Amino acid sequence: MRKKIIAGNWKMNKTVEEAVELAKAIKLELADCNGVDVVLCPPFTAIKAVSDVISETLINVGSQNMGSEDEGAYTGEISHAMLKELFVRYVILGHSERREYYKENDFWINKKVKKALEKNLRPIVCVGEKLEDRESGNTESVVEQQVRGSLADIPASAYTELVIAYEPVWAIGTGKTATSEQAQEVHAFIRGLIKDMVGAEAADAVRIQYGGSMKPGNASELLAQPDIDGGLIGGAALDAVSFAGIVNAGI
Ligand code: 13P
Repeated sequence: MRKKIIAGNWKMNKTVEEAVELAKAIKLELADCNGVDVVLCPPFTAIKAVSDVISETLINVGSQNMGSEDEGAYTGEISHAMLKELFVRYVILGHSERREYYKENDFWINKKVKKALEKNLRPIVCVGEKLEDRESGNTESVVEQQVRGSLADIPASAYTELVIAYEPVWAIGTGKTATSEQAQEVHAFIRGLIKDMVGAEAADAVRIQYGGSMKPGNASELLAQPDIDGGLIGGAALDAVSFAGIVNAGI
């Protein structure tokens, strides 16, 4: 039985002061979140402060990206060691906004996934098709290319650690959620791909989150689907009550 995982991706929102306020409010709402893994992913500048707020709880801290190298002349990058020092456990990699605006590709995402696993960080690897892909019937081929590329050469044993987030780009921040049937269909497809790549045991173990306009009102139905193991939440993660509502839907 896969444990559900709900992660809040705060994106480029919240100063340190605002982040502390939100983390405290979430902590109050989720004093007892035993049945679900909960992860907060603030911007880099607020990771330390958020880590401090949730240090004595079951809530985890994640980052929104990570550099692929250990250290050195990589202006603007953040290393695994810098994140681990702040008690980061999860790293979101290959988010569609990074693929689209910063031209991250599967080759680099794959390097980051390997580095994160090597350093005992848990990657949340994002994949998802654009509206034109869906409308032209290419959802599966686009998702397959991203899954095979970003997870190339990852051993079967790593799939208990890594998380895949299926986020249809057309559903992100648009208020248009994929129906639970649409999401389930792609999740099952991804699980089938993992089975083909590394075997049935890893496919059965890997957690696949849905992301894209997930809210308390639609979370229960999405999370009830057999292959949806959690959510990667954007907008609704910026409000403690909404975020807690989604977490509670996963219990
Ligand atoms: P929204 O929940 O705002 O649609 O964002 C989803 C997302 O991109 C999470 O990574």
